[in-house]
Amino acid sequence: MELNIITQMIPYMVLFSAAVAVAVAVAVAVSDPVVVVDNFLQCLTQDPNATNSDFVFTPNDKNYSSVLESTIINLRFASSTTPKPLAIITPLTYSHVQYTILCSKHFKFQIRIRSGGHDYAGLSYTSNLQTPFVVIDLKELRSITIESGQNAHVWVETGATLGELYYWVSQESQNLGVVAGTCPTVGVGGHISGGGFGNMMRKYGLAADNVIDARIVDANGRLVDRKSMGEDLFWAIRGGGGGSFGVVVAWKLNLVYVPDKVTVFSVSKTLEQGGSSLFNKWQHIGHKVSQDLFMRIIIQIGLNDTGNKTIQVTFNSMFLGSADKLIETITDSFPELGLQEKDCTEMRWIETVLYFDNYTKGDSIDDLKERGPEPKIYFNAKSDYVKQVIPEEKLEEIWKWCMEGDNPVLVMESHGGKMSEIEETTIPYPHRKGYLYNIQYVEFWGNESSGKRRISWMRKMYEKMTPYVANNPRAAYVNYRDLDLGVNYDSKTSYSNAMEWGNKYFGDNFKRLAMVKGVVDPDNFFFFEQSIPPLITSTTDEDKINVIGSYL
Ligand SMILES: Cc1cc2nc3c(=O)[nH]c(=O)nc-3n(C[C@H](O)[C@H](O)[C@H](O)COP(=O)(O)OP(=O)(O)OC[C@H]3O[C@@H](n4cnc5c(N)ncnc54)[C@H](O)[C@@H]3O)c2cc1C
Ligand SMILES: *[C@@H]1O[C@H](CO)[C@@H](O)[C@H](O)[C@H]1NC(C)=O
Ligand SMILES: *[C@@H]1O[C@H](CO)[C@@H](O)[C@H](O)[C@H]1NC(C)=O
Ligand SMILES: *[C@@H]1O[C@H](CO)[C@@H](O)[C@H](O)[C@H]1NC(C)=O
Ligand SMILES: *[C@@H]1O[C@H](CO)[C@@H](O)[C@H](O)[C@H]1NC(C)=O
Ligand SMILES: *[C@@H]1O[C@H](CO)[C@@H](O)[C@H](O)[C@H]1NC(C)=O
Ligand SMILES: *[C@@H]1O[C@H](CO)[C@@H](O)[C@H](O)[C@H]1NC(C)=O
Repeated sequence: MELNIITQMIPYMVLFSAAVAVAVAVAVAVSDPVVVVDNFLQCLTQDPNATNSDFVFTPNDKNYSSVLESTIINLRFASSTTPKPLAIITPLTYSHVQYTILCSKHFKFQIRIRSGGHDYAGLSYTSNLQTPFVVIDLKELRSITIESGQNAHVWVETGATLGELYYWVSQESQNLGVVAGTCPTVGVGGHISGGGFGNMMRKYGLAADNVIDARIVDANGRLVDRKSMGEDLFWAIRGGGGGSFGVVVAWKLNLVYVPDKVTVFSVSKTLEQGGSSLFNKWQHIGHKVSQDLFMRIIIQIGLNDTGNKTIQVTFNSMFLGSADKLIETITDSFPELGLQEKDCTEMRWIETVLYFDNYTKGDSIDDLKERGPEPKIYFNAKSDYVKQVIPEEKLEEIWKWCMEGDNPVLVMESHGGKMSEIEETTIPYPHRKGYLYNIQYVEFWGNESSGKRRISWMRKMYEKMTPYVANNPRAAYVNYRDLDLGVNYDSKTSYSNAMEWGNKYFGDNFKRLAMVKGVVDPDNFFFFEQSIPPLITSTTDEDKINVIGSYL
């Protein structure tokens, strides 16, 4: 199928050059931007599959705003001053993606690719750069094809949400599960491109560790799969962050076995109830316990028994087994938690999706296939990793800094297990052996006016945490995108400038990512504030590939 499409594109490319000459002449003669867009739209109509324009939205269309806003999660990027796209394309077939790439390239428009729209900096639908841009919104491409039995796997198109994917896989068999994140509205496209962690990562690794094939449209508009894209590009798209290498239109994922019943619990302790020493114990054992046990910690401001503000430490957990077995495991490794049967709930794996998303009011698993409700809110976040336990006596200080925030949430997830068995070079995600847990700092707010204060608190908190977290380089998670770490100023920003943030996300893998980029997108078409810059190390393609080969 892929080959067919590539050959279909060849006659098109010839046609395209002639058509383009006309379009350019018009664009140069008339500088009205609307005319430029019209020509871009004309360009798209050369796609034999563009039989109507139902998949194209420009600011003149009455549905433009609703389509644009539909998956904006972070309200910080939904204001009237947020830069908006010239057009939104919602492809109905892969050729719509291919022609959008070719036409955008010709008109020198940038591309923003959106699957679930959860990007922390809104980079899937807005731009801080001056160049006009077009959004490719994949929400209509979301078919899911499941193959059960031995080597169970799924082909999922990238416009699907994690919730839809989880739902349909669990419908196929209640003993099949997908390894990915805990938020059901997150998009499969961006999430897996950046790694993707969730409550089975200690047993099965990241979502990206479970990718076995992919279909992408590359910078030349070609639709390629694992075989035709080659192992270097296939390596880069599994964790190198979305948007730098092409438009992923479908992933093939390994499915994993989940037992009939799994067990969840959520136990909260204030400082007065010994929260700090429990936290300390968790630091020592969370990454070492059975791989069936995932324990994350949520730190929030709570109230103690006399109504005074305190820190609340919540142990939020999933165990791939029965409640009895869980209590046995905790009694062995973490008796201080005092976990009891009444704290534990056995449920089907699919039900844990609702549990971890804190659903309320009788929501059912059927709601997962409705892709909602989108959690629209103002938020800001940063990430860190911890490699050495934070001394217990320092915790008081950290809690004090938390209390200075309005309503901060710190989420920490134990690594270890499969996460540290996988080599740091296997895929671009580098934070493996020796990493105890990650920290996500988040502030949510509902009123625009407090944004400045929240963001400034978080920057201070991040500064103060420096002695306690992984450093040189400080480690960050690309799926928790943070533009404070550094940005590309324009498409000429060099690899060495980008190293400052690139090494935080990818460690030594950043260089290899930049070399792959130099081969597959040397002109930096897929360019944005934190895209991987091309590192061009040699003049011929053959040499470049050899260089990558010798780097491995
Ligand atoms: C409420 C919430 C909960 C979250 N929970 C988790 C969690 O449990 N675990 C975890 O690891 N992360 C989690 N995240 C982070 C999430 O994984 C990232 O924000 C992820 O990038 C979102 O993917 P998306 O498709 O929804 O986002 P988008 O905003 O659509 O895309 C994110 C980035 O990927 C690019 N991109 C999107 N689709 C494609 C594609 N098809 N091909 C190429 N590039 C693409 C975009 O251009 C953008 O740069 C959460 C985020 C939120 C807001
Ligand atoms: C525009 O939105 C309306 C109302 O939601 C819907 O009925 C209509 O089909 C949409 N049109 C297109 C082209 O998407
Ligand atoms: C384009 O349309 C034709 C027939 O209408 C179909 O066979 C082909 O698969 C489509 N191409 C893509 C890339 O969807
Ligand atoms: C609640 O917190 C306040 C302030 O830290 C403290 O003085 C008080 O003893 C706490 N009360 C209880 C019941 O823990
Ligand atoms: C704790 O709460 C009580 C009653 O609400 C209040 O009088 C007291 O000042 C508070 N103490 C602290 C340390 O905040
Ligand atoms: C989950 O929901 C409950 C009730 O709606 C709320 O009190 C609690 O704070 C929520 N927890 C989280 C972690 O959001
Ligand atoms: C937002 O906060 C400002 C300043 O504190 C206040 O004046 C305003 O009423 C708030 N708006 C809403 C909708 O709560």
